[in-house]
Amino acid sequence: MKLLEVQELEIRYRVQGNGFRERRYLQAVNQISFELDRGRTIGLVGESGCGKSSLARSLVLLEEPTNGEIRYQGRNILNMNRAERKDYRRSVQMIFQDPYGSLNPKLTVEASVAEGIRLQGLMTKPDQIQKEVIRLLEKVGLDASATKRYPRQFSGGQRQRIGIARALAVRPELIVCDEPVSALDVSVQAQVINLLRELQTDFQLSYLFITHDLAVVENISHELMVMYLGQIVEQGPAKKIISQPKHPYSQMLIASIPGNRTEADENWSGSRGDIPSPLNVPPGCPFHSRCPLAEERCRLERPLLKPITPRHLVACHLVATED
Ligand SMILES: Nc1ncnc2c1ncn2[C@@H]1O[C@H](COP(=O)(O)OP(=O)(O)OP(=O)(O)O)[C@@H](O)[C@H]1O
Ligand SMILES: [Mg+2]
Repeated sequence: MKLLEVQELEIRYRVQGNGFRERRYLQAVNQISFELDRGRTIGLVGESGCGKSSLARSLVLLEEPTNGEIRYQGRNILNMNRAERKDYRRSVQMIFQDPYGSLNPKLTVEASVAEGIRLQGLMTKPDQIQKEVIRLLEKVGLDASATKRYPRQFSGGQRQRIGIARALAVRPELIVCDEPVSALDVSVQAQVINLLRELQTDFQLSYLFITHDLAVVENISHELMVMYLGQIVEQGPAKKIISQPKHPYSQMLIASIPGNRTEADENWSGSRGDIPSPLNVPPGCPFHSRCPLAEERCRLERPLLKPITPRHLVACHLVATED
């Protein structure tokens, strides 16, 4: 059984329109489906505002989907009873771009890391909890001396390690990582990514790894989803998409990785076209206004996400199936 199955997920926000009492809807997530196995990582890449965090929040029950289904170990997460829901909240953890936002500045590191252990009733004896906190801190590359200190006394990279220890404390199976290294220096990014990879092996963790920076997901993802204006435009094995991107938007993202220019680059000299507003997604292909290859059909007809090989899907009228 798959650990996580997401089917045709949609998230719409109701927003204020121009006129009095005018209702408008912003489609942040549009018909997204994917599956995630135990011990695997799926990377989710796309520009700011494309809907990545909305999807992430729906997985940790912070956002209710407008349509579609999220199944965890075969059970619909919205139909769980109290006990199941409590266990789901333990099993699926989230780490954020800015651990300052998730770590309470008034709590010592020990109190922060121990919080979930207590709330979930995993341990009760104080000395047992303290030992566990130290074990977790060591697991993420910090030591026992961190326990009595406060978040502000650490560097960004160290704070992210504390955030990871806090997530690990409740023994999760899936961690939703929402831009976990985007605020860090490049050298520190690599260290945190390596840590996440080690922890994945040690604890058989699954990750949904979100970033706007393709260079970052390359080293951690097994599968990749490329998102544009709420839709997945390309989905499949990460190595294959990074080495041979098929969708013009994926090609653009990959060409923008420094030192990673490919032959597709001539298409991307200079920026062209504006990103349409998610309040007003154009008909046809969502990317057509920026696509150097767009034809009449692309302006009229929305391309479906279809397989070009059994596990590699692309939503583009101009990409043919591979044999
Ligand atoms: N609660 C909300 N109400 C209305 N609109 C929202 C809400 N949350 C997000 N949005 C809008 O939905 C769209 C998707 O936002 P989301 O935060 O999911 O994108 P993102 O890909 O995570 O962006 P970023 O890379 O900047 O974090 C954006 O246009 C955003 O303004
Ligand atoms: Mg976001």
